[in-house]
Amino acid sequence: MYEQELIATAKAMVAPGKGILAADESYSTANKRFEKLGIPTTEEMRRAYREMLFTASGIGEFFSGVILFDETIRQATKDGIPFTKVLLDAGIIPGIKLDEGAKPLAKAPGETVTEGLDGLRDRIAEYYKMGARFAKWRAVITIGKGIPSHRCIDTNAHALARYAALCQEGGLVPIVEPEVLMDGDHTLEDSYGVHHEVLKTVFDALYAQGVEPDQMILKPSMVISGEKCPQQASVEEVAKWTVKCLRERVPAAVPGCAFLSGGQSDELATAHLSAMNALFKDQLPWQLTFSYGRALQQAAMQTWNGQDANVPAAQKELYHRAKLNSAAALGLYQP
Ligand code: 13P
Repeated sequence: MYEQELIATAKAMVAPGKGILAADESYSTANKRFEKLGIPTTEEMRRAYREMLFTASGIGEFFSGVILFDETIRQATKDGIPFTKVLLDAGIIPGIKLDEGAKPLAKAPGETVTEGLDGLRDRIAEYYKMGARFAKWRAVITIGKGIPSHRCIDTNAHALARYAALCQEGGLVPIVEPEVLMDGDHTLEDSYGVHHEVLKTVFDALYAQGVEPDQMILKPSMVISGEKCPQQASVEEVAKWTVKCLRERVPAAVPGCAFLSGGQSDELATAHLSAMNALFKDQLPWQLTFSYGRALQQAAMQTWNGQDANVPAAQKELYHRAKLNSAAALGLYQP
C-alpha cells in the first residue's frame, strides 16, 4: 500500500551529498554522555540539547533525515514548535528508533539480542501519524574469543527482518543496522569475515520475511581493525575492504548504505567515507553515505556543555561536521 512512498523516501534519504543525523540516543546513552561533561541529566537538558541540534541553520543542505528517540519525537522547541515540524520545515525527514536495546542473549555469554518486536505494529502506526517516515533498529555483534556465534547472528538477523517487514507494512522505511563492534583486538581480516557472514545472514532473513530491498536502507559498520589491534589498517585499506564486503553481500536494488561511526574519531569516520566514494563511487550500484551519531555530535555537545550562551558556537560545530561529511558522501573531503 505504501510502495511508491517507501521507494521515494528511501531514495531521498540517500540523495547525493546527503546523509542522516542519528540523534536517537536512549535515556541511558544520552545521560552517560551528559554525565561525562557534567551536564545535568534531566528531560529539559535533553530537550534543550536536541533543540540546539535541530535548529542549527543550514543543516538541511546536508541532512536528509534525523533519527529521533521516543522522548524526542514528542518534544518541541522552548517556543512550542514540535521538533518534527522544525525538521520538516528544514527539508529534513523525521525518523524514529524502534528497537528497545540489546539484551543478553540466553545461554550465550558476551552476546546480545535486540528486543522490541512486541507491539511493534501499533507503535509504527503511532509514529507514522506523528510524522515519522523511516525507522531504525540496531543489532549488535561482538567479535571476541569464539564469538560471534551463529545463533547470535541468526537471532539478530531474524529480529531485524521481522522489524523491517512490519515497517514496510506500516509505511516506514526501515534502516537495517547490524553493527559489528570495533571493540577488541581483532584484525581487519577478522572484521571482514564477520561482516561477510552477518550481511549474508541478514539479507537471507530479509528475503525470507518478504522485505523489499528497494524500500530499505542498510546501516552497516565499516570493516575496520579492532580498536585494540596493534596493527591499524590505513584509511585506504578500510575503504577497500568495506566496499569489497558490501559489493559481495548487498543487493543492487538497495538504494543506499548509510554508515554508523561506531566510536571512530569524527575525522576518521569522515576520511573513511570519503575514501570509499573517491575510489569506487562510479562503480557502485548504491549510494554510500553517513548516518553518524557520535562523529557528528561530539564536538557540538562539548561546545554546548549545557549552556544557552554556547548554542551558536555548538551549532557551528554541527554545521561544520555535517558539511565535511556531505563532501565525503561525494568523495570530495579534503582533510
Ligand atoms: P554512532 O555513529 O555514534 O555509532 O551512532 C550511530 C547509531 O545510530 C548507532 O545506532
